[in-house]
Amino acid sequence: MTEIVLIGNGGHSKVIQAMIERTDEYVLRGILDDSIEKYTETNGVFYDNSNTIEDYKGNYSFVVAIGDNETRKNVIEKSTLTDNDFVSVLDTTSIISPDVQIGVGTVIMPGAVVNPGAKIGKHSIINTRAVVEHDNTIDDFVHISPGATLAGTVTVKEATHVGAGSTVIPNTTIHQNTVIGAGSVVTHDIQHNSVVVGVPAKVIKRRS
Ligand SMILES: CC(C)(COP(=O)(O)OP(=O)(O)OC[C@H]1O[C@@H](n2cnc3c(N)ncnc32)[C@H](O)[C@@H]1OP(=O)(O)O)[C@@H](O)C(=O)NCCC(=O)NCCS
Repeated sequence: MTEIVLIGNGGHSKVIQAMIERTDEYVLRGILDDSIEKYTETNGVFYDNSNTIEDYKGNYSFVVAIGDNETRKNVIEKSTLTDNDFVSVLDTTSIISPDVQIGVGTVIMPGAVVNPGAKIGKHSIINTRAVVEHDNTIDDFVHISPGATLAGTVTVKEATHVGAGSTVIPNTTIHQNTVIGAGSVVTHDIQHNSVVVGVPAKVIKRRS
C-alpha cells in the first residue's frame, strides 16, 4: 500500500482524497497546505503547513494536489523533492489502456478514459470524465479539465490547460502555456502562450 501525502487542500485535493479512499492500493497519511497554521491529526491523517514538505521527504509518496498548472509547477520546482518522491494516482473508475505511459505525480480522475498509444508526462491532471484518445502525447504540468475530449494523435505541450468540456480535433498540437477556454473546439494548432475560446477556437489574448 502506497502511503501518500498530498500537497494542497482545496477542491482538487478533495477529489484526490476521495479517489484514495476508494482503493486499497493507496492510503492517505497527510495533507500539507499553506492555510494550515499548526500540526494536527484526525483519523490517522496529519495536517501540516506546506513549508514542512522536506520534513516528510523519504517517508511518504507525494502528489501535488493543486489544479492550477503554474502553482503546481512552482511548488514542485521550489521543493527538493525528486521524481522518486512522487507517485501517480489512477482512479479505480478510470479506463487506461495497459500500454499507456504515465509520469510521476500525474492523477487520472474518475471516469477518465486514456486509450492505447497515449503518453502522459509528469504532474499532469486528466480530470473527471476527460477523454484522451489513442496516440496522444501530453507533456508535464498539463491539465485536461473535466469532460474535455482530445481526439486521436493530439499533442499537448507543457503547462497547457484544456478547459472543461472542450474538444480538440485529431492530429492537432496545442503548444505550451496555453489556455483553451471551457467549451471550445480546437480545429488547428495553437501557438504557445495563447488563450483561445469559442467554436472554432480563436485567440483572445496572449499570456506572458
Ligand atoms: C478562457 C478563460 C481562461 C478566459 O478567462 P479570462 O482571461 O479571465 O477572460 P474573461 O473572463 O475576461 O473573458 C474575456 C472574453 O472572452 C469570453 N470568454 C471567456 N471564456 C470563454 C469561453 N470559455 N468560451 C467563449 N467565450 C469566452 C468572455 O465572455 C469575454 O468576452 P467579452 O470581452 O465579449 O465580454 C476562461 O473563461 C475559461 O474558459 N477558463 C477555463 C476554466 C475551466 O475549464 N476550468 C476547469 C477547472 S477543473
